[in-house]
Amino acid sequence: MKIIRVENAYEGGKKAFEFLQADMEKGIRTLGLATGSTPEELYKIMVNSSLDFSQMTSINLDEYIGLDGENPQSYRFFMNTHLFSKKPFNETFVPFGKAPDLQEECRRYEQVLAEHPIDFQLLGIGRNGHIGFNEPGTDFDETTHVVQLTASTIEANKRNFDDSEKVPTQAISMGIGSIIKGKKTILMAFGKTKAEAIHGMIEGPVTTDLPASILQKHQEVIVIIDEAAASKLTKS
Ligand code: GLP
Repeated sequence: MKIIRVENAYEGGKKAFEFLQADMEKGIRTLGLATGSTPEELYKIMVNSSLDFSQMTSINLDEYIGLDGENPQSYRFFMNTHLFSKKPFNETFVPFGKAPDLQEECRRYEQVLAEHPIDFQLLGIGRNGHIGFNEPGTDFDETTHVVQLTASTIEANKRNFDDSEKVPTQAISMGIGSIIKGKKTILMAFGKTKAEAIHGMIEGPVTTDLPASILQKHQEVIVIIDEAAASKLTKS
């Protein structure tokens, strides 16, 4: 694991963009993308750059069950708004949260992943160490699956919903087995709410209790964090 400390989320976005640009110059074709506030600066930088994504494929990590792309709280809507409407891609994949057969949707997504191996996987991290929506306890070899969100994740994600709206309690997520197939992984985390998870991920044991800890065994991981997220690290 390579750990890069930055001053703030904007500087973190700039760093991630440098890696992305360098890899695109080398000819990568498929990006694994994430939602949440963490990658927003990177997406702004991508939008304002001259990089051409029109030959690229993107594959998102997850989606809430019950929401379609018209719903402003859906991850498809987030991606369209922050990136795809401003920077055309060749193809963009996000799990379909309103699929009539969710198991079939999971199989379809694994097929998409098999046809488009991810070159560059972007990740945020949940406060409990989840990646994608792989909550603590998820097997490391799990593929795309239906997830029951934990109370802490539902609570954390409430900030994105109006009071009147119910935060979905289920999601479709790429599994950890699918995520770690990505050739290069960039995980970003900013702010003190992520400090505990970052400490466990980097300095703790590899355990399903903290899903992101599996990244210690990944071939190429770059962790970009600010001082607040790094504040509980003791060795690195
Ligand atoms: C959700 C997403 C994750 C994301 C996490 C953190 O749970 N499924 O992919 O990493 O939130 O979100 P944020 O970046 O807003 O802190």
